[in-house]
Amino acid sequence: MSENIKMQVKANGSIKVTGAVDFVDAEGKIVTTKENFSLCRCGHSKEKPMCDGSHRDAGFEAPAL
Ligand code: FES
Repeated sequence: MSENIKMQVKANGSIKVTGAVDFVDAEGKIVTTKENFSLCRCGHSKEKPMCDGSHRDAGFEAPAL
């Protein structure tokens, strides 16, 4: 049984992922597995797809869910 992955949308920020996730390439090959990280949703990160905190300096404001 796989672990339950949690994705939490942060107010005016990233999407926090809690749990282990396999990152796969276009052919479905696992490139890496990461645990407990944040995905960028503002488009300003220099470490995409990960959040690097740039949303704060960019003044990112997300629409309400
Ligand atoms: S959400 Fe943090 S850098 Fe984009």
